Amino acid sequence: MEAKFPYQPWEITELGFSAKDLRENESVFALGNGFIGMRGNLEEGSATGADTIQGSFLNGVFDSEPIVYGEKAYGYAKNHETICNVMDAKSLTLFADGERLDMGLSDVRDHRRVLDMRTGVLRRGFAWHTKGGAVLEVEMTRLVSFTRQELAAARLDVKCPEGVCTLTVESAVAPAVIAEGDPNDPRNAAGKDRSLTLAGLFAEDAVIAMEQKTKNSGFTICCAVEHRGAEGSSAKHENMAVWKTEIKLRAGESFRLDKSICYMAARYDEEPALWEKTLDGCKAAPDFDTLLQEQRASLDAFWNGAGLGIEGDDALLQGLRFNLFHIFQSAGRDGRRNIAAKGLTGEGYEGHTFWDTEAYILPVFIHTDPALARKLLEYRYAILPKARERARELGHEKGALYAWRTIDGEECSAYFPAGTAQYHINGDIAHAVCEYYDAAQDLDFLAKFGAEILVETARLYYDLGFFSAVKNGRFVLNCVTGPDEYNVMVNNNVYTNCVAEENFRSAAEAMALLADKRPQDYDRLCQALAFHPAEAELWLVAADRMYYPAPQDGIYPQDDDFLNRKPWPLSTIPADKHPLLIHYHGLTIYRHMVCKQADLILAMTQYGDRWTMEEKKKNFAFYDGVTTHDSSLSMAVFSILANEIGEVGVGYDYFMSSARLDLDDMHHNTKDGLHMANMAGTWTGLVRGFGGMRCKNGKLSFAPVCPPQWKGYSFCVGYRGSTVQVSVHAEGAEYKLLSGEPITILSHGKPVALR
Ligand code: BGC
Repeated sequence: MEAKFPYQPWEITELGFSAKDLRENESVFALGNGFIGMRGNLEEGSATGADTIQGSFLNGVFDSEPIVYGEKAYGYAKNHETICNVMDAKSLTLFADGERLDMGLSDVRDHRRVLDMRTGVLRRGFAWHTKGGAVLEVEMTRLVSFTRQELAAARLDVKCPEGVCTLTVESAVAPAVIAEGDPNDPRNAAGKDRSLTLAGLFAEDAVIAMEQKTKNSGFTICCAVEHRGAEGSSAKHENMAVWKTEIKLRAGESFRLDKSICYMAARYDEEPALWEKTLDGCKAAPDFDTLLQEQRASLDAFWNGAGLGIEGDDALLQGLRFNLFHIFQSAGRDGRRNIAAKGLTGEGYEGHTFWDTEAYILPVFIHTDPALARKLLEYRYAILPKARERARELGHEKGALYAWRTIDGEECSAYFPAGTAQYHINGDIAHAVCEYYDAAQDLDFLAKFGAEILVETARLYYDLGFFSAVKNGRFVLNCVTGPDEYNVMVNNNVYTNCVAEENFRSAAEAMALLADKRPQDYDRLCQALAFHPAEAELWLVAADRMYYPAPQDGIYPQDDDFLNRKPWPLSTIPADKHPLLIHYHGLTIYRHMVCKQADLILAMTQYGDRWTMEEKKKNFAFYDGVTTHDSSLSMAVFSILANEIGEVGVGYDYFMSSARLDLDDMHHNTKDGLHMANMAGTWTGLVRGFGGMRCKNGKLSFAPVCPPQWKGYSFCVGYRGSTVQVSVHAEGAEYKLLSGEPITILSHGKPVALR
């Protein structure tokens, strides 16, 4: 396949302009900072002959509307929550002697767009040969600030090497032009009124601003833009505010304009002075050069923490950096916002947060940016009250049940068999709490947030399951859906039982630890949660007696009945019938022995000690043959296990199919936004797959292998206050303590002391 973007280590460059790729590229070139998200739309909006998906988002800001069911039953999710496509402030529309710049019509040469992952900006440049005979060299730079959550900024430079022209520049704050979703694709928001109400407009001198309100969810959103470096005038129009300037450019002359953009949002009028604060915010913003410097410094710290390198495969290195860059851009940083399945890059999955965060993305941050990991877990604590309410609604007397998909904690999954039934979400969150605590040793977090999450999720599992007489008194969890959405409402999904067992043990351990180390916090929690150690004893019995379906001829069924389903050889499914979920009725899929993503393989990567190497090999071969990988979350997991069982070639192929999935639009839906979990999964594929990194209870170990296709690779892992750099070549691995306490690690089972 010919590369769409040249293989560069730090940049993604579009050379020329491809109208047909515009929507995909708008996702690829998206910028964000965990609060503001801007798709990589052209400054002038669209281009004649090209389709565009316009988007500006604020993480956590959504509108809701009742879900309309044909047939409704008790306990169904009540409301949709859909991330708002808020007012657009990216625009810069250029006119030369009245001719409007239009990539589809104008004579534009040497067009290029560059996403620079080291400096955190999107640059665009071209030479415009105007109808009036002038040549204008245009450079545009855009950033969304990592250091100041409410701020974004843009710079326009125009040089006129030849001719003379009157250049007009218009910059607007305008309601988003909302693209239609696809009503036949459940992954894509469609059929909902996603418009916002205009609540205020402002246009005075260099500043324009707009206020919008959501219709049902109580959000107020404000955006203000200040124009710097050029004289202009502003005016209010019917539904937008526009700033405009006009300047005569002669050969040799140039023009510069900076835009400072401020977005703020608040719910239920919790911030009465929002409008004034937003106006002040854009005026008080530092100049563009300062923001550029800060941006670079934030990214230097992030890339140093990750320490990622691949020798001998530039395409891969570019793909991995691109993936990390986007998850960094999408992660909420204030404990109230999380990461949507598509980050802040598009409206796919409506801006919902799933288990993707805990199961895929958190491991990356836990080892590269633990402060960020903590904030993401604090979000789960913030929505714990809603999870408690939901548990009661579903008839659970104790505990909390997290929503399968949500923005503010309320369950939004209208299709419960592949939604609410995914009770593993509780265990995924509990697992992430444990991983974070294990790596960061953050007792403060455990006392304030983590232990309560663990107790409430464990309680839910205890209420859900029972000691079954027909299973020899073992503890069973029935009628749940594992991550594999092609097998729904099954009994004893192996992955769910694994996470539940771990949840029981970790909740008991966390409370015992607090009793020992933080007696005051322990007492407070005992009071607040009506917890008594006798309850933890019950959890431990359930954990010890957890039921797992027995193997048949060495094959572990991923649930009680998996091997009893009708075979459906993958070779008989035409390529154009994937993903199955949009081509077959659920009933057809559910009665077959076919997986979207394989839960046993996931369990084997996460709870590897339960199975022998031989068992892993045999089961890998079996599940490899029945898995469609219709979810982008699948391949990274297969890659990790393939490496562990010594199938480095297979691991490599899976890894490579996931590493550039969005850059090469392999799933043909990059236009709807980037696949965050898969992007994070590639880091895990490198570090846990090829690097063989495992850690638990203070032991950090590696078992690196180097695929023959690479000269070498490297990465950094933070663990218990030490940052270790791992560099792997065909001849072996080198370990270096980059910072922190001396640590003894294991390399292929042998201790190595690092100091
Ligand atoms: C996957 C889920 C995932 C969701 C959002 C689905 O296709 O099956 O596991 O949480 O996408 O990424």
